[in-house]
Amino acid sequence: MRFYPEGAFDQSECTGCGICEKVCPTGAIEIQNGYPFFKIGKCIACGHCGVYCPANCFGLERIPFPEDICSSEKYLKLLEARRSIRYFKTIIPSEEEISNLLSVLSQSPTGVNRQRITVRVVMGSEAVEGLLKPVKRLLRILDYTGISFLIGKLTGMSGYLRKLREGSDVIFREAPVVLFFHVPRSNITGRTDGVIAASTVMHHAVTFGYGTLWNGIAEKLYQLFPSWHSSDTKGTRLTAVLCMGYPEITPEWKAPLRDYMIKWC
Ligand SMILES: Cc1cc2nc3c(=O)[nH]c(=O)nc-3n(C[C@H](O)[C@H](O)[C@H](O)COP(=O)(O)O)c2cc1C
Repeated sequence: MRFYPEGAFDQSECTGCGICEKVCPTGAIEIQNGYPFFKIGKCIACGHCGVYCPANCFGLERIPFPEDICSSEKYLKLLEARRSIRYFKTIIPSEEEISNLLSVLSQSPTGVNRQRITVRVVMGSEAVEGLLKPVKRLLRILDYTGISFLIGKLTGMSGYLRKLREGSDVIFREAPVVLFFHVPRSNITGRTDGVIAASTVMHHAVTFGYGTLWNGIAEKLYQLFPSWHSSDTKGTRLTAVLCMGYPEITPEWKAPLRDYMIKWC
């Protein structure tokens, strides 16, 4: 999917306005003899040259007209409709449906425009239950040694551990799909890139009627359980975990408003 400006560029349309040179974030374009010269090694394939080119020399598709972009009111409605889903239907979305949901990742910004986000999709009750097995095994060991009692007391999670012991999936909430968002370890803005990606997917999910649940606990537990790891994600780090599926119980009312601060400087 990489964009190669030097390949896409059509000189016959170029007016030599120099906008591509001005907007290129890495200085990979220089106007020489009235036309852009591409310094290929510097290009990060972000496409700024193309999206700002008044003559569309790079042959890109037109962005939506302002009247086709959803209004602030509609956008707010999307945000209000999204809630954490704690009970999911057993229906498993198809691979095609999940791919459609994840297609939004091609629009998700990353620090140096090297998307390279890998989403590992764990689907189906058997696979999700498989994730729980090592957790339950560890809990049995902790119970046996009496350490779980201490952990429960210190973290205030005794009730949580009890439910887990009783067989309730308090971690993945029996979601039919769990999405693990990975980014390359070498990516300097990786953690943020991954969180933006998961947020983008979370909001896209609402438009399909899916519900999601951020899973901070699974994210923290990930390091403890090598069986959750996959060779597909070697050299990456996990930045977010989302449970997803159709909500079994749907929220009906807007969330109470939450605090934030604005400091004018
Ligand atoms: C980073 C993050 C991690 C979370 N981890 C968990 C989790 O492990 N288990 C859980 O039940 N809820 C988890 N949540 C859901 C929060 O409890 C929920 O977002 C919060 O109560 C606000 O509700 P809302 O999402 O419906 O607005 C997490 C949320 C975020 C943002």
